[in-house]
Amino acid sequence: MVVRGQFITFEGGEGVGKSTQVGLLGERLRDAGHEILATREPGGSPGALDIRRLLVEGPVDRWAPLSELFLHNAARHNHVQKTVAPALAAGTWVICDRFADSTMAYQGYAQDVDLETVAQINRWAAGAVWPDLTIVLDLPVADGLARAQARPDSEDRYERMGAVFHERIRAAFLDIAKGAPTRCAVVDAAGAPDQVAEQVWDTVRTRLSI
Ligand SMILES: Nc1ncnc2c1ncn2[C@@H]1O[C@H](COP(=O)(O)OP(=O)(O)OP(=O)(O)O)[C@@H](O)[C@H]1O
Ligand SMILES: [Mg+2]
Repeated sequence: MVVRGQFITFEGGEGVGKSTQVGLLGERLRDAGHEILATREPGGSPGALDIRRLLVEGPVDRWAPLSELFLHNAARHNHVQKTVAPALAAGTWVICDRFADSTMAYQGYAQDVDLETVAQINRWAAGAVWPDLTIVLDLPVADGLARAQARPDSEDRYERMGAVFHERIRAAFLDIAKGAPTRCAVVDAAGAPDQVAEQVWDTVRTRLSI
C-alpha cells in the first residue's frame, strides 16, 4: 500500500519569500529521498491557472470580495482535484505556495467576508485535502512589499491594495496560526533566504518527525 504524501503549505503576505522557500524546501526534501511536487494557488492546474489571471491582474476593484472568494475556491477545487489529491495519493509530498489560509486572510480578515462563510467554502473546495503543516512566513509589511516590487511582474493586483490592507493581512496570518497551533508554525522571514530556509527546515523536521 502506498503511504499518502505529506501536504505542506506556505502562507504569508506579499513578497515575504513564499515562492523562494517553496523551492528551497523542495530541494532539501528531494535530497532526503522524497518525491516532491511544488505547486501554487491560485493556479497549479490548467483550469485554475485560467482563473488565476482573473484574480492577480487588472483593476483592484474588479471583483466584490464575495466574488473573489468563489473564484479562489473554484480555482482551489480544480487544483485539488486535478493536481494535489492525485499526487498525495501516489505518495508524493506536495508543497503549495498559498492555500486556504490565504483566502481566509485576504477575503475574510482583510475584505470582510464573514469568517465562518470563508471557512465553510474553503472546506468544500479542499474536500479531504488539508495541510499537514503550514509555514506562515512573517515579515514587516514594508519589507515584503519592497521585496515584491523589486521583482518585475504584472501579477500585482493584490500588491496595489494599500498599506492598511497589508497590515490586516499580516495580523490575519498571525491570528490564523494562533488558532491552529498544531498545523501552523510562524517563521521569521527577515533573514537572508538561506537563514530562513534553515528555520523552515528545522520546523519541517520537528513537526513532521523526519
Ligand atoms: N529572505 C530574503 N531576503 C531578501 N530577498 C528575498 C528573500 N526571499 C526572497 N527574496 C526576494 O524577494 C522577492 C520576493 O520573494 P518571493 O517571490 O519568494 O516572495 P513571495 O512571498 O512568493 O511573493 P508574492 O506574494 O508576491 O508571490 C524575490 O525577488 C526574491 O528573490
Ligand atoms: Mg510568490
